[in-house]
Amino acid sequence: EFNEKESLLILLDHARGYYKQLLWEDDEGQAIGLSYFKERGFSDETIKAFDLGYSHDKWDGFMKYASKNGFTEEMMEKAGLVLAKEDGKKYDRFRGRVMFPIHNPSGKVIGFGARILKKADNQPKYINSPESPVYYKSNVLFGMFQAKQAIRNEDNCYLVEGYTDVISMHQAGVKNVVASSGTSLTREHIKLMSRFTQNVTTLFDGDVAGIKASMRGIDMLLEEGLNVRAVVFPEGEDPDSYSQQLGASAFKAFLEKNSEDFIAFKTHLYLKDAGSDPIKKAGTIREIVGSIAKIPDAIKRLVFARECSQLMDMDEAVIVAEMNKMLIEQG
Ligand code: UTP
Ligand code: MN
Ligand code: MN
Ligand code: MN
Ligand code: MN
Repeated sequence: EFNEKESLLILLDHARGYYKQLLWEDDEGQAIGLSYFKERGFSDETIKAFDLGYSHDKWDGFMKYASKNGFTEEMMEKAGLVLAKEDGKKYDRFRGRVMFPIHNPSGKVIGFGARILKKADNQPKYINSPESPVYYKSNVLFGMFQAKQAIRNEDNCYLVEGYTDVISMHQAGVKNVVASSGTSLTREHIKLMSRFTQNVTTLFDGDVAGIKASMRGIDMLLEEGLNVRAVVFPEGEDPDSYSQQLGASAFKAFLEKNSEDFIAFKTHLYLKDAGSDPIKKAGTIREIVGSIAKIPDAIKRLVFARECSQLMDMDEAVIVAEMNKMLIEQG
């Protein structure tokens, strides 16, 4: 007799196997799904390492399969694999999409992301499993199962936005990488990373949304006491597109060359905008000092205050005084 969570995990593992088999063995799956992944530059080895799959463009393909294997529709719904119409009739959530299983850190599938193949105006690019008794979005990082050993070995974790960023970087040999997958970073995400390393490098898409997300994420990481570096990608590129474009060794060199600690990252980003305008510059300093004030360790705060004073060409005593004022305000 299994409890509910165990039963859901067994059902989700069946779903993983079902979508995987369609990708590799079914005519439609091969012609549409597998060739989509190949066109994106994913190798067979990579596709297997991430358990990728394909869902048929049918209303009940998975439901029929799971029913035959003895699962109830109620369980399928609870696992987020089927949906109920208003009249109670159920249908497959994932249809005609390539499938990205989401594993927990020990390798059990707990949900899916699913990407549409062709652009369609009335449909989202990705649909994702809803939360369930085995899937809480705020504490899951996509790719952690495949990355955890490399994160320990490298003593660093790259944090990216998307499924394909993780997969392409892994293929390029940068395996210490996880994604927040469209949800904003939470304390639970950070706690999970800090089980494996105290060093995080954020890699966000080179667009406004990506940079904004990166700023918020950085301050949260600092507050939790982690060491934070960041890399800005060229406009319009993300870690997936750029690693595929550059190839493994040039991509690794790009990361090395462009990774900056958070002070340098924020300084460069804001100064690009502020130029020599003194009021904007003051605003930039205040923003950066605000980030430094979030660091729990007092010695690290002073080291970064000095770096800030050098980069911004501003008296260190002024920076430290401003920081101490903020610390008092924060309580
Ligand atoms: P992006 O829009 O950057 O997509 O969203 P991507 O990862 O580059 O995907 P490709 O390369 O076009 O295939 C980043 C992440 O946000 C989530 C997904 O997890 C995605 O990987 N997202 C995005 C959604 O959940 N739904 C969406 O409609 C779009
Ligand atoms: Mn078929
Ligand atoms: Mn983006
Ligand atoms: Mn992207
Ligand atoms: Mn992309």
